[in-house]
Amino acid sequence: MKFFVDTADVAAIAELNELGMVDGVTTNPSIIMKSGRDILEVTKEICSIVSGPVSAEVVATKAEDMIAEGRKLAEIAENIAVKVPLTWDGLKTCKVLSSEGRMVNVTLCFSANQALLAAKAGATFISPFIGRLDDINLDGMELISDIRQIYDNYDFQTQILAASIRTVNHVRECALVGADVMTAPPSVIKAMANHVLTDKGLEQFMADWAKTGQKIL
Ligand code: E4P
Repeated sequence: MKFFVDTADVAAIAELNELGMVDGVTTNPSIIMKSGRDILEVTKEICSIVSGPVSAEVVATKAEDMIAEGRKLAEIAENIAVKVPLTWDGLKTCKVLSSEGRMVNVTLCFSANQALLAAKAGATFISPFIGRLDDINLDGMELISDIRQIYDNYDFQTQILAASIRTVNHVRECALVGADVMTAPPSVIKAMANHVLTDKGLEQFMADWAKTGQKIL
């Protein structure tokens, strides 16, 4: 499973990238707002660090304007994936931009039928939002599983990019049901390393080691 980082925090991206944990990056208008930076400038900086797909989202709502914004965003770097919302205009934009050979990430997906439409429109990635479905007591993981089955039934090449990941359990379950990619904030990726038994075991090893009076260096 590929790991994308869901942030525009350049320092956090660089830190995870050094460990080989970053296969790509996703941003959205809220993430850009939180960064406090200019979208073109910060996206360019991210693309200079990460060689995998970097999603940059359009903000227009009419297809014609979305296409123009998408083309402008795609000029930032070769690894830009233009992110479009799953609306009818977004699907039109997806078809046009993907036909031009650009990567397109169709976002704000909340149903299997929406994912089916995105695949038919030539999306490179479909982004189903797990956490936001869980927030309203629906089953985000069931959606990932349904899309996996549908795409496999018909051999669609669109990659399932599990988004709105809030917990380490979301990551594990996405890997189990076969999401191609997951995108999570740096805090969730780092939390994957935590285990209470690791901490406890290390504490015991350190205590016993101190009793030996030995040194390795
Ligand atoms: C994905 O591409 C989105 O940027 C993101 O995962 C949304 O997550 P949220 O629901 O936690 O805002």
